[in-house]
Amino acid sequence: MCGIVGYTGPREAGPILLDGLRRLEYRGYDSAGIALVTHAGELFVEKRAGKVAVLTDALGGEPPTAGVGLGHTRWATHGRVSDLNAHPHSDCTGRITVVHNGIVENFRALRDELAAGGHVLASETDTEVVAHLVEDAYKGDLADAVRSALHRLEGAYALVVMHQDEPDRLVGARLNVPLIVGVGEGESFFASDASALVAYTKKVIFLADGDVADIRPGTAVVTDIDGMRLERLVDTIPWSAEAAEKGGYEHFMLKEIHEQPTALRSAMAGRVRRGGVCLEEIDPIRDRLANVNRVELIACGTAYYASLVGAQLFQDWLGVPARANVASEFRYSPPPLDARTLVVAVTQSGETADTIAATRLARERGSIVIAVTNTVGSAITREAHAAVFLQAGPEVAVAATKTFVTQVLTLVMLAADIAQQLGRRTKAEEEELVVALKALPEQAERAIELAGATEEMASRYAEAAGFMYIGRAFGYPAALEGALKIKEISYLHAEGYAAGELKHGPISLLDADVPLVAVATRSAVYEKLISNLMEGKARDARVIAVATEGDKQIEQFATDVCWVPDTLEPLSTILAVIPLQLFAYYVAVARGRDVDQPRNLAKSVTVE
Ligand code: AGP
Repeated sequence: MCGIVGYTGPREAGPILLDGLRRLEYRGYDSAGIALVTHAGELFVEKRAGKVAVLTDALGGEPPTAGVGLGHTRWATHGRVSDLNAHPHSDCTGRITVVHNGIVENFRALRDELAAGGHVLASETDTEVVAHLVEDAYKGDLADAVRSALHRLEGAYALVVMHQDEPDRLVGARLNVPLIVGVGEGESFFASDASALVAYTKKVIFLADGDVADIRPGTAVVTDIDGMRLERLVDTIPWSAEAAEKGGYEHFMLKEIHEQPTALRSAMAGRVRRGGVCLEEIDPIRDRLANVNRVELIACGTAYYASLVGAQLFQDWLGVPARANVASEFRYSPPPLDARTLVVAVTQSGETADTIAATRLARERGSIVIAVTNTVGSAITREAHAAVFLQAGPEVAVAATKTFVTQVLTLVMLAADIAQQLGRRTKAEEEELVVALKALPEQAERAIELAGATEEMASRYAEAAGFMYIGRAFGYPAALEGALKIKEISYLHAEGYAAGELKHGPISLLDADVPLVAVATRSAVYEKLISNLMEGKARDARVIAVATEGDKQIEQFATDVCWVPDTLEPLSTILAVIPLQLFAYYVAVARGRDVDQPRNLAKSVTVE
């Protein structure tokens, strides 16, 4: 939810930290701050409510020269948004500074105890207790003091600590919140994710839960919380700094929508062959998959909508009950989970706390867990028996686009692969799927081209009072996702409904100010969708239909039509969502919204 960056080395730390914070800003952006130990040995702290740009202005573009420092961009949990509550936080001596992502659950008890011991806590945050705990434990070695303080914390954290008296050193730790170490030539970094440091180094260590990393220029020592030395692999980030830039587009979201054909191609690379689909990542667990008798998918938000497609396919193709579950509800009434249950955890970031907690429960109960994620080295990959990567490249906009289509695609491939292994689908069915999959990237390009009209359309709909999105079968997840996109970035109310439910209540919302957006692509439920369109039209609602190219009758029932190419029904969600993403984007732009960083949101939701 928050972004952390740290640097120690020969370069100027200030600009590196500010650049890192700009890149991490999508994780949270209600306040930002940096702390530096200057070359003169002084501690410098500047922190401001507002975006990183506000902090940069406050610094007058010129932070003091320093070779070590840490920075933070915040998504508030404890304590309102203010300069005082912005990170970094300091101890009583003002020599120790801390940045933190997560929640210290026992912070009230710790605050009381620290205050009783004479500490003065200045902010309303949970984080500040960490600085004071380190202060109490400090006896000349920062790593020892941090490890000692960590023993007192309950909850989740990624944190980095700096001491003015050890000016080439940073100590970081993680528990259930991401933190990585970057290892450069004579310099070292901390960051919440690789986007903050890939411009400087591609060599990273993905810290595991319980790790404490002690970095100095060019070196990183990892221990457990008791100081026991641990060996950690150095991985290489597979994408370039340019991949996380806007590349000439006005917003990351628009760029990422246009990257979808490439992302689909990349997600299929090496996996779709003439005879069928094969995901090698699941080879080590194929024996266990042979006995699967139910499938539970776990996810949040957009990933949940992608999971609805996955659930339909696991059920249809494997012939076993399959269900998509909202991860945050899963633990309150878990289904029967045992060694024959396949649990598929779907999460772009791989760090969503709700998804991880639900997955952990399933694993404890003996289920087989496959993670579907975009993030190599993320927490979910450690919870799972196998991880299948989206291979979509970095997604920066808070509103997910290319990771939605690649999640759907990856779930299609996963269900097809397992069904094929179990002999539940015919050769002809597999071949038909392979042909359709291979055509998909070009069809996505065509869908983007055909959606050129959405910009003009959006200007006519931008003042709507709200929207009703409907779909059936594979059109239903596309409708839900389309509605979520509008809500997230334009702040207009939008309902996503199974089209058949319209008449059971929500139809009363429809009028000339509340348009009906219907996913009406070619499918077995097409005629029923047309009836729903007519129901909307009869209530004076303007109707936007997403329809298959060549559909001759749809224009009679719709005010506007967004055309998409024809494909197999299980793949139709991928193409149908494209004009809905663009429509949401242009509505938000027309309403003057902050498209890439909508209010109240953060891309990576690492609190429950
Ligand atoms: C989608 O636009 C949202 N950013 C949000 O719903 C997101 O999909 C959800 O928070 C889950 O994130 P994850 O895929 O990283 O787990």
